[in-house]
Amino acid sequence: MAEFKATVAFVVAALSASAVFSGISIRTLSQNSIFSLFIVIVIILVMVVVHLWNRKPRDLDSKKVKELEESLKSSLEKCAAERQGRIRAQQALRNALVQARPDNLELTSYPMAPIGTIQSCFSTRNGTPRQPLLVPLARACLVFNLSRVPPASLEGLEEYSHCWIIYVFHLNTDLEKLWKHPTKSKFKAKVRVPRLKGGRMGVFATRSPHRPCPIGLTVAKVEAVKGHMLQLSGVDLVDGTPVLDVKPYVPYCDSIQGANIPEWLTVDNLLVVASVSFSEGFTSTLADCWEIAGKKSLYSSADEFQNLIRQVLSWDIRSVSQRNQPHGFLMKTENSKALEKTSDSEDDRNEEACSHVTEEALSSGEIIYHLVVEGLDVSYKINCNGNVMVENVSLSSAILKEQSKAL
Ligand SMILES: *[C@@H]1O[C@H](CO)[C@@H](O)[C@H](O)[C@H]1NC(C)=O
Ligand SMILES: *[C@@H]1O[C@H](CO)[C@@H](O)[C@H](O)[C@H]1NC(C)=O
Repeated sequence: MAEFKATVAFVVAALSASAVFSGISIRTLSQNSIFSLFIVIVIILVMVVVHLWNRKPRDLDSKKVKELEESLKSSLEKCAAERQGRIRAQQALRNALVQARPDNLELTSYPMAPIGTIQSCFSTRNGTPRQPLLVPLARACLVFNLSRVPPASLEGLEEYSHCWIIYVFHLNTDLEKLWKHPTKSKFKAKVRVPRLKGGRMGVFATRSPHRPCPIGLTVAKVEAVKGHMLQLSGVDLVDGTPVLDVKPYVPYCDSIQGANIPEWLTVDNLLVVASVSFSEGFTSTLADCWEIAGKKSLYSSADEFQNLIRQVLSWDIRSVSQRNQPHGFLMKTENSKALEKTSDSEDDRNEEACSHVTEEALSSGEIIYHLVVEGLDVSYKINCNGNVMVENVSLSSAILKEQSKAL
């Protein structure tokens, strides 16, 4: 089209030039002024035709633009109407949810599903710290579900030193009951508190995992963001924990100067052990186990792992009943009636997370406790003065199972 126009323009220019030239020559020759006038008229006609011909597509263009504008307008209107409809439907759904009768809790549900899962050094609840940041070496990796959360959602998170993590207490033994019959399963209003040596508190005055909604809140140190993975430390989360949300920790609004806590929480050293030492053979046995356990570990060396064990065991991670009655286990196994009487099992479960350390009684009456971390089973003793002796380490049954599968 443009080429064609250029050609026409060239032809017009050539005609004008020749016309002017011929007009001059005609005038100077003073032969035929009518012929000269005719040439000028022809040139004017050609110019008018070219002008009109040039205008036509421009009219077409503006017509097209008008059409497009109109179709855009109508589809915007359609969109707005759809949006209105959607908003109305959403409001109706919300109203229906809010108005769901209180005796039919199952219907009152919200669209919440885990956004990711924790891969933690703590293979079981046993030994998982009771609070965040107690064990700086406690590492975990939050692996986000890519079909729900694109990696771009993590952009900027690494600029914070800490973040909040909202998660599900998925290992609560009463979870299934709670979900099947939310109204029928009664939670205990009061729970035992380790720091109170078995004294009880209202569930909302504690961070017990056994609450009407089994949701946990913790804070962790942000180590790195790698693709769809968030590396954390100082965690008190057990492996496999489903995570509902992550939010940045913002000191100026998340930390309140001069906030009060009850006195029982200020007695902090209650749960600190006196010392942690390792048996003579521990380091070399660990080195052997590390050849296998170290392959998939969050820790780079057996040394670093040993430091983790020291940090974990520097807090008394036993349950209240284990601490109060270190020989309760013997009574339980020897006498099932004693089991009912002494272990008060409901209350033990209602204690703070994770606290039940597996124990094993030797014939000498000494108790060996087990802690499973990073797939290694660490055995230790603790005496009445709070001195911890780490006895031995072996591959956990989970790792052994994996090994035999691989072979
Ligand atoms: C990830 O999310 C999708 C969609 O919500 C779900 O179907 C899938 O089971 C999730 N995957 C994991 C590993 O949780
Ligand atoms: C420590 O455990 C290993 C198995 O991991 C075992 O072979 C060894 O005898 C144990 N050592 C002691 C001192 O109990």
